[in-house]
Amino acid sequence: MSSNNFSGEQLNPLQSIEQWEDDVVLRYPEPGVPETAKSKEEYRNYDNPGRDTVREFYRLNHKYQTYDFVQEKKKEFLAFSRKEMPVWGAMEFLNTLVDDSDPDIELDQLQHLLQTAEAIRADGHPDWFVLTGFIHDMGKVLCLFGEPQWAVVGDTFPVGCQHSDKIVYPEFFADNPDAKDERYNTKYGVYSPNCGLNQVDMSWGHDEYLYQMVKDYMPEPALYMIRYHSFYAQHREDAYAHLMSEHDYEMFEWVKKFNPYDLYSKSPKPPVISELKPYYEDLIAKYLPATIRL
Ligand SMILES: [Fe+2]
Ligand SMILES: [Fe+2]
Repeated sequence: MSSNNFSGEQLNPLQSIEQWEDDVVLRYPEPGVPETAKSKEEYRNYDNPGRDTVREFYRLNHKYQTYDFVQEKKKEFLAFSRKEMPVWGAMEFLNTLVDDSDPDIELDQLQHLLQTAEAIRADGHPDWFVLTGFIHDMGKVLCLFGEPQWAVVGDTFPVGCQHSDKIVYPEFFADNPDAKDERYNTKYGVYSPNCGLNQVDMSWGHDEYLYQMVKDYMPEPALYMIRYHSFYAQHREDAYAHLMSEHDYEMFEWVKKFNPYDLYSKSPKPPVISELKPYYEDLIAKYLPATIRL
């Protein structure tokens, strides 16, 4: 089914795409930081309307992200035929994403990206790691092309083989046609043991889209961070060891290093964009071409 056939609520059950990441933080709280009574209650309370929308979001995600859907999205978006612009311009384009979230509480996309990158920079990591933090969610421009939220954000998972019960809300996969298709519902499905993730198609979203955009320009650890940062079932749960190669495991050390910056760098103090822009423009120029195609 084409995602363009979906109606309003099926497109955008979340008030904002940040609601997904906020929910991930509740699922994987920062180690050492005591859970507040409020956050515990928020996560456990199934009557919480915020949780209902996240549940509905996952219901749609798990139902419609099939092997065929992913192939179709790749054909549609990996031609990169929509726009061509400088990277900073693409970030500003991403920042035009306005949704129903409260602008007084929620940071905008550029602020989240700068906070992530600045936290990485403050810890003294290499500059390509800082740049990775800055661009890692640029693929969310998919939302601006009318894509449903569940085909842009959400935990990613392999398609074409059995869904792990370690993926959040595994019960919703019962409605995914692949779960009844014998080509796709066995442990290995269309893959072979430890074939390596490069052989594996992931559910479609902002990770794969950005990876394909920058794969010729960034160092390999950066590409792993970009491509698999939403693959919680692996980097947090090790649920797909049977598909991982040794090299994947080596590279996933970087994905794990990156994840806390993504989840826990949000602070209410917004970064001053004009002060930071020259540094990031230099970083972009060092690694990426003058313009990129979306
Ligand atoms: Fe992301
Ligand atoms: Fe992020």
